[in-house]
Parts: sequence; C-alpha cells; structure tokens
Amino acid sequence: MIDPFSGSGEAIRRLAEHARKVAGVDSPILLQGETGSGKGVLASWLHRHGPRAEQPFVDLNCAGLSWEFLDTELFGHAKGAFTGAVAEKPGLFEVAHRGTVFLDEIGDVDLRVQPKILKVLEEKRFRRMGEVRDCEVDIRLIAATHQDLFALVGEGKFREDLYFRISTIPLRVPPLRERREDIPLLARSLLEKLAQDTGRAGCRLSAAAERALQAHAWRGNIREMRNVLERAVLLCETSVIGSRDLHFDGPACGDGAASASRLTLAAVERQHIERVLREEKGRVEEAARRLGMPRSTLYQRLKAWGIAPSKI
Ligand SMILES: Nc1ncnc2c1ncn2[C@@H]1O[C@H](COP(=O)(O)OP(=O)(O)OP(=O)(O)O)[C@@H](O)[C@H]1O
Ligand SMILES: [Mg+2]
Repeated sequence: MIDPFSGSGEAIRRLAEHARKVAGVDSPILLQGETGSGKGVLASWLHRHGPRAEQPFVDLNCAGLSWEFLDTELFGHAKGAFTGAVAEKPGLFEVAHRGTVFLDEIGDVDLRVQPKILKVLEEKRFRRMGEVRDCEVDIRLIAATHQDLFALVGEGKFREDLYFRISTIPLRVPPLRERREDIPLLARSLLEKLAQDTGRAGCRLSAAAERALQAHAWRGNIREMRNVLERAVLLCETSVIGSRDLHFDGPACGDGAASASRLTLAAVERQHIERVLREEKGRVEEAARRLGMPRSTLYQRLKAWGIAPSKI
C-alpha cells in the first residue's frame, strides 16, 4: 500500500489534511494534477480511508476510448443490444455498487456519455444499452484529470453541469517540482522498494545523487522518478548510486540556471551527451558532429560510462 503523502513539505501536508477531511464523505472528488503526480495512488487511498473501504474500488482510464466502448464499459448492455452483444454485460457502475468508481482522465469522456454519468450522480440511476428500465446504483465517484476542465467547458468539450457536479471537492496534487523538499524522502522510499524487488537490498543514494534528483525538472513526476531509480538500481555497479548512475529522460534541469548550477560540470556534460545521442538515435558520428567533439573522444567517454550507443 503506497502512502501518497510521503514528505513533510507544505504542499503535501496541506493535501494530506484536505484528503483526511474528505475521505469519509460521499460527494464526488475531482483530482487535478500532472501526469505521474500520484492521482491514482491518492484515489485508492481515499477509497481505503472511507466508509466504503470494504466495498469494490473500480477504476477506468477514459483516455482514448470510443464513446460506444466507454458507454458499454460504464453502463453495460443487454443481450442483443447491438450486433455482437451475445450476452448481457454489467457495467462498471453496477460492479462498483456500494463502492467507489475512479474515472481517470475524465476530460476525455465523450459528450454523448457525459449526461449518463451526471444522471448516476444526481439520481443514482442509469440505463443499460438496449434496456427499457433504469437500474439503481449507489457509488461514490472520484474523477481525475491533467487537463483544465473549466477551459474544456469554455470550448464546449465538457458539460458545464457535469463539471460543477464532479468538482464538488477539488483536490490538487502538486507536481514534484513544487515539492522539491520531499524528493529525498520519496526517492529513498521508492529506492528501498525497488532495491528489494530487484534483489539489491541495501542500495542507497549518494549525497550528490540526491542533489541531482532534487534539481531535475520531473515533467513525468513520480512515475519518471521511479523509472530513473529503477534504471539506476539495475545498472549501478556498487551499492551506492551516484549522480553518474542517474540517466534522466527529459531535460537535465528544472527551473533553469538555478537548478542547473547545482549539478557538477561532469554530470551536465554526461546528460547533454546522452540527450544528443538519444536524439540522433544512437548514431555516434552524427552526435559527435553536433557536440563539436571528435568521434573517438565521444567513443571513449561512452566506453568509460559503460553506455552502448545502440541501447541509449
Ligand atoms: N507517494 C508515492 N510514493 C511512491 N510511489 C508513488 C507515489 N505516488 C505515485 N507513485 C507511483 O508513481 C507512478 C504514477 O502514479 P499514479 O499512476 O498514481 O499517477 P497519476 O497522476 O495517476 O498519473 P496519470 O496522470 O499518468 O494517470 C505509479 O507507479 C505510482 O505507484
Ligand atoms: Mg493515473
């Protein structure tokens, strides 16, 4: 069970305080936050800390789903409702009766499905495709989005009535760059788990590695940090992970010069070389030309770091 509030910074402390207050109520909750910031983890925490904890928790990521698919996933269908509906199918709302439904990426829900979700929230009823009678259902809805739903309302892509209904209790999950003080603790707890899972218990971060983690932009938030640490645990040769063992996916540093200045020159150089090499899809000759260094020097550097250009 993951604790969504690891850290002691102001932002996460405030979120924990709000979450504790609303876990027990039945009103819909809207979680807003960037990708990978922990909305899913928080949704399941809210369910486990409320009166519905013993009942089902059913989640669905609504991104990229056609409206027909989403409609039958959520509300089910009767036998013969359409070609291919060979058997009756209960929807997720029915399966979650007395429990919680977590709809991730609610901003992607088609306008044709939105009124049915509103009806479930307002009247606790819905109708399966191909049936004439409504079913009653009792669920608590938690929705999440990385989009600005209010802007989607303005663009006519999201119903205003549904927006107001699901945002009764809005909770904003802060991005990692707004909670840099929590990064060392979060990194240590992620690392402990990863090290155990990969049979490398006892693996720890050097002080320089912790500083590098704190300085990074983390556009992919906790998910990105988990990936960076997993890679480091698997590739590092000793039980201490140094800054050289951290291979970041995105730009080297977060908020410009201030965070860049916290990295050593060697770390910045390595990150830049890796980035160019990635952009050149591992072609050393092209990368060396862009970096303005002899090809042989680049080969030497990569060899010293144990990086195979084809695997970058
Ligand atoms: N507080 C935390 N401690 C440890 N791991 C966490 C924490 N929060 C999130 N994670 C991990 O980070 C990853 C992303 O979390 P999650 O799926 O909850 O983010 P999200 O905001 O729902 O992302 P998306 O918008 O892409 O759906 C998961 O692997 C999750 O286990
Ligand atoms: Mg999610």
